[in-house]
Amino acid sequence: MTTAAKSTNSVTLAEAGALYTAGRGYLAACTLGLPTIATINAMHADTEAWARGEACAARYCDVVERVRAGYADLVCVTPDRVAIGSQTSVLAGMVAASVPDGAEVVLPRGDFSSMVFPFLAQAHRGVTVRQVQLADLAASLNEKTWLVAFSLVQSATGKLADIDAIRIAARKTGTFTLCDTTQAAGWMPVDASAFDATICHSYKWLGAPRGVAFFTINSTFAANLHPVNAGWYAGDDVWASCYGPAMALATDARRFDVSPAWPAWVGAEPAIDLFRSLDLAEVRDHNVALGDALCDGLDLPRVGQAIISWPDADGRDLARLTAAGLTASGRAGRARVAFHLFNDEEDVALALAALRP
Ligand SMILES: Cc1ncc(COP(=O)(O)O)c(C=O)c1O
Repeated sequence: MTTAAKSTNSVTLAEAGALYTAGRGYLAACTLGLPTIATINAMHADTEAWARGEACAARYCDVVERVRAGYADLVCVTPDRVAIGSQTSVLAGMVAASVPDGAEVVLPRGDFSSMVFPFLAQAHRGVTVRQVQLADLAASLNEKTWLVAFSLVQSATGKLADIDAIRIAARKTGTFTLCDTTQAAGWMPVDASAFDATICHSYKWLGAPRGVAFFTINSTFAANLHPVNAGWYAGDDVWASCYGPAMALATDARRFDVSPAWPAWVGAEPAIDLFRSLDLAEVRDHNVALGDALCDGLDLPRVGQAIISWPDADGRDLARLTAAGLTASGRAGRARVAFHLFNDEEDVALALAALRP
């Protein structure tokens, strides 16, 4: 398995800001991240090579292995614990298909559908989904709970799960943990080894193209999962696995791989490398400081989050932000803005000027 050099903290926040062609007024990393110049250039070069008839499957596979190793380093696991895919829902669906008949799964109410629907879709086998308030997640687990599945950072509200409490409760009740880090990885340090499994779609805070998703898993949980999406890429020897009739799957996490959307991985390589080069605690402090400054200006309590959202049932505040040329979003009857490393105090000032003219 390919290995990657360790994270370095070699790029400062100020240097990182200069790697983007946009960002001013872009308050939507929680919806869709921005590419750096390196990602744009890599994707251009790949498209041109493809057009010349020079794209090469084996080279794409090398890229995927480098990105797998880089992502493993980013989230503190080894590459043999990382599987690849293209969407959260498909990876969650594989876990959901492995929940034993009649077992219980506990989820936070209001979590993103790609983490919820795959489990609801198992109702025909008697799988029960209990949805509770995020704050009650840890206390809601009991010996009958097979799995607790939740986002580390909630999509609609930006709220953080109390992972220490959830892990302690899950250990006591013998419950497996599945954490979606899509709204967390890239703006805060994430340790995937703290959970039995994690899922991350990297097109938001990590700025990769859509279609690059990761699944991390430990060996105990892996022994309980069925690789229901297995194809040639899940084979022990990928290129010897293109045809049946026999199936010899990889023995490590690669057996959960789904064949990659190649060009997206070319764009993901510089994206993941950038975030491995940053001090993610510094990125978190920067993003949270901007979020807190917006809360101060809006007379909202500080929440210590990179995503700030507030009730906006009629969409008036979102319309104000949009009319001022800012890119924000609305979710679940709330206006939602996100601050990332390409934003600064001027973005906060622009948002406040639009909302409190
Ligand atoms: C927490 C979370 N997970 C996953 C996704 C994306 O899901 P999928 O990869 O199935 O498109 C989103 C998108 O907003 C999200 O907020």
